[in-house]
Amino acid sequence: MKDFPQHVKGTIDFFSSRVSLFQEITEVARKILKFFGYEEIILPILEESKVFLKVGEFTDIVEKQMFKIEGKDIVLRPEGTAQVVRFFVENRLWKEKEFHKFFYIGPMFRGEKPQRGRLRQFYHIGAEALGSNLPFLDAEIIKIASDILKELGIKDVKLKINSLGCQQDKEILRKRLKEKLKEKKERLCSICQKRLDKNPLRILDCKEKRCQEIVEEIDIGDFLCDSCQKHFEKVLHYLDKLNISYIYSPTLVRGLDYYTHTVFEITSSHLGSQDACGAGGRYNSLVRSMGGPDIPGVGFALGIERIMLLLKEKKKVPSSKVFVAYTPGYFDKAVEILNFLREKGIPSQISYLEKSLKAQLRFSHKIGVDFVVIVGEEEVKNNFLTLKDMRKSLQEKVSWEDLLNRIC
Ligand code: HAM
Repeated sequence: MKDFPQHVKGTIDFFSSRVSLFQEITEVARKILKFFGYEEIILPILEESKVFLKVGEFTDIVEKQMFKIEGKDIVLRPEGTAQVVRFFVENRLWKEKEFHKFFYIGPMFRGEKPQRGRLRQFYHIGAEALGSNLPFLDAEIIKIASDILKELGIKDVKLKINSLGCQQDKEILRKRLKEKLKEKKERLCSICQKRLDKNPLRILDCKEKRCQEIVEEIDIGDFLCDSCQKHFEKVLHYLDKLNISYIYSPTLVRGLDYYTHTVFEITSSHLGSQDACGAGGRYNSLVRSMGGPDIPGVGFALGIERIMLLLKEKKKVPSSKVFVAYTPGYFDKAVEILNFLREKGIPSQISYLEKSLKAQLRFSHKIGVDFVVIVGEEEVKNNFLTLKDMRKSLQEKVSWEDLLNRIC
């Protein structure tokens, strides 16, 4: 039995090389999103539950995955899109200008049963563009997500894409699915049997083999209206123009109910059963359902922890450039050097544990610095310093004046 506190299952402590990797991912994402003209926003972790009820009450995250604050109608946000739309509507932002592009980086929370890649707290890099129905924007949003992954060195991913059409098309699809799957109900998994009444679209992307076989047996036929079909063809046309390859996946529906028209997922076979490292699509009715006017939106979110699984552990970035080591009795002289270096703007460290020189040198290896400066009896007596260049494995005697020239 554990008798000491542990991290909550489905959460991750970030430290050491994980922090470097996290920072690298967010820096790359920020650079690319700003390049494409997206403005960073930082919204609260707490939201009213009703914000997410607009996502669709039969959506998994609303039905069973929201972390509620006890006794209040407040939740830990499970995703960013509905929240950005709440922020957009609350501040009447369409009155300021017709078109907005936002991005956010922050934690999301879902009460899912934790497993590899499926966490209770995880980080999103999300982007949302509000105010345009142009098919080029759908393609461009996919381009941004794929540029971030490419810049991070992740190549082995697949883009799956589909169109759900407008709300009327989705209704036709829903009805057809209900009709066609009614007589096969007994063969569906227990979850899909429940979905058949409430949210039959989700049966299309059920991971259970028997449900997938049933989906293959049925012919849904064309259900997109002319205008939605044209929109989708144009999105694919612009993806071609932007040199982005895709797989048309007619059964891709996504777990969030607000999507209309384009839906997509970016997957990797290296991720196991939770194979999506990013996903998104259009949500042309969400602003209206949140109480705003008829304004379309499109966006994506990348999961940082899943991206981290795809990236090899990075070498630890040195926390400091110089480590000042001393022989017993020369701590004050070492502090003098430490302050001298820090005042010159050079990140420098010293040992806070009164250890032997050998132990200090071992520690400097561990934290990974470029240089070690050693001070002791001989150095003080003859007015020099010993400088070890850890990158070149060189050691030399230098004067205080030369120290900076060697290090910088
Ligand atoms: P989502 O598919 O729920 O979409 O999440 C996006 C990505 O976040 C997933 O592809 C996955 O990489 C990561 N993710 C989701 N759930 C978990 C989890 N439990 N543990 C670890 N990683 C996870 C959305 O949230 C939409 N808001 C995306 C969007 C933005 N659509 C339009 N704009």
